[in-house]
Amino acid sequence: MCGIVGYVGHRQVLPLLMEGLRRLEYRGYDSAGVAVIQGGRLAVVKKQGKVRELDAALPVAGLSGSVGVAHTRWATHGEPSDANAHPHTDAGDRIGVVHNGIIENAAELRARLVADGVVFRSQTDTEVLAHLIAARPENSLVDAVRAALRQVKGAYGLAVVDAARPEAIVAARNGGPVVIGVGEGEMFVASDAVALLGHAKTVVHLDDGELAEVRADGFSVATLEGAETRKIPQALEGEASGFDRGDFAHFMKKEIAEQPEALRRTLLGRLDHRFSTAHLGGIELAAREMLDIRRVKILGCGSAYYSGVLGAHLIETLARIPAHAEPASEFRYRNPVIEQDTLYVAVSQSGETFDTLAAIQEVKRKGGRVMGVINAVGSTIARECGRGVYLHAGPEVAVVSTKTWTCTATAFALLALQLGRVRDLSAAQGARLLAGLSALPDQIAEIIAREAELAPLAARLAGSQHAYFIGRSAGFAVAMEGALKLKEISYLHAEAYAASELKHGPLALITSQTPVLAVLPDDDLLAKNLSTIAEVRTRQGPVLAITHPGVYAPDVEAAFAVPRSEPELDPILLNIPLQLLAYQVAQGLGREIDQPRNLAKSVTVE
Ligand code: G6P
Repeated sequence: MCGIVGYVGHRQVLPLLMEGLRRLEYRGYDSAGVAVIQGGRLAVVKKQGKVRELDAALPVAGLSGSVGVAHTRWATHGEPSDANAHPHTDAGDRIGVVHNGIIENAAELRARLVADGVVFRSQTDTEVLAHLIAARPENSLVDAVRAALRQVKGAYGLAVVDAARPEAIVAARNGGPVVIGVGEGEMFVASDAVALLGHAKTVVHLDDGELAEVRADGFSVATLEGAETRKIPQALEGEASGFDRGDFAHFMKKEIAEQPEALRRTLLGRLDHRFSTAHLGGIELAAREMLDIRRVKILGCGSAYYSGVLGAHLIETLARIPAHAEPASEFRYRNPVIEQDTLYVAVSQSGETFDTLAAIQEVKRKGGRVMGVINAVGSTIARECGRGVYLHAGPEVAVVSTKTWTCTATAFALLALQLGRVRDLSAAQGARLLAGLSALPDQIAEIIAREAELAPLAARLAGSQHAYFIGRSAGFAVAMEGALKLKEISYLHAEAYAASELKHGPLALITSQTPVLAVLPDDDLLAKNLSTIAEVRTRQGPVLAITHPGVYAPDVEAAFAVPRSEPELDPILLNIPLQLLAYQVAQGLGREIDQPRNLAKSVTVE
């Protein structure tokens, strides 16, 4: 989704802004632009399309100056076009604004400005801001922005420059993330700390309702009402190398390959062999508090939700606490009952998904207690939760989630184990699971090394328009995630269905043209799954399977067997071939794997 980067300092700003934009590309966008204060005026170049097209549109000599802002836009108000790309400026091309979010009263403000004679050059809500700020009489840019924002309703993360007052960038936040990167004699502003890796060692996160005046030699933060707030810079975690594809054709492939290492980091220091349990210090729950939990509710969107479905299954199985996952995007709108003795768990890779944030704010508002399972350290949801589990999976750049799904599912296994061990899960059971968890990274590496064996399954899926992914119980969570992955990057219609439900409807659609991929572990439900497969074969449906070695399934046309883990952990391994399968199908169809059409890495708007 939209990305912001800004710089004020002593270096030439353009290369820094372009590098920042490239780092933000992974979020998904449809246009990009830069504004640089050059010789006392604002030079703006913006372009529909990719950052490389913006690069090509820049003057041969570049833009010269040491203050500027840049943006990648994901269209909400107004189609993707050069004119609608940010930065937006006032009529005098003095004020430049880059903005993430939606100004809800833009139409009303626009009508008022038009009546005053302002001529608009775009269809965006953001342009309103540039005109409002330019019209303010205040002496300083920060005061002018503050006054303009008082007239605005809606969500924003934004950065503003003024060619007439080039000493500072003003940044503000209300719902859209903004971080300030602290350098020596230079400062950065961004919507995502990844844009600052390698440049700033420490960062400051703005909170909602705050504005920052960012100068080369420092910054000050105050609220919209004008009260100063004290901010303590925090270390910026992460390596710029996470944003380098290396020899991999796609980030998705790289991130699939990184899973063994990422998972080792998720497990590091959290396996307590002495007491045969897991130790998640960040959840800040004493044993007695864990005993008081009567229910667990997991909230997330997309893949995060599906990892939560598996997480709920793990918690219910191991800790015997009723647990349920629900899309955060639905939960927040249905006036949910919030219970004192329920533990609410927000799941998010980016920690910025708006629906998930809104859902947990609703829980907190009603007095519920929330923890997060998050990858991005210091992200909005992580800070809103205040406690939880960080995945330490490293940056995930491809829009689709792979390594973070695996690490999230494993974090839930750790949580389930820890909750289980304060309840009825025996030490022997705990030790069995710890051994299973420790073996996962090498088992994942083994699956990845056998990727070529998936080719017959990929060929069958690539040749069809529709496919069903089926599984029972925890296998259904795997089927849902597998189908989502295939849809997202191959654009084939893949629908996940509980295997038990197939005969209650979709069986009517099964023909020789609708392959069915079965998640088929060698567990208690194997016989049931084999019956469902037989029903599909009777209707000529081709069946593919992700299964275990030694499973006899004569009705299956092509299968891939994953190594056995402990039964509760099997779903984590069963999902890995589905990532590779989606990748192979999408690659065969020539799709844009890392940035699928219409999708964004983190959806920071409603
Ligand atoms: C978007 C992405 C999905 C992702 C979801 C949740 O919809 O396209 O791939 O699963 O957001 O993202 P989060 O960062 O909250 O895990």
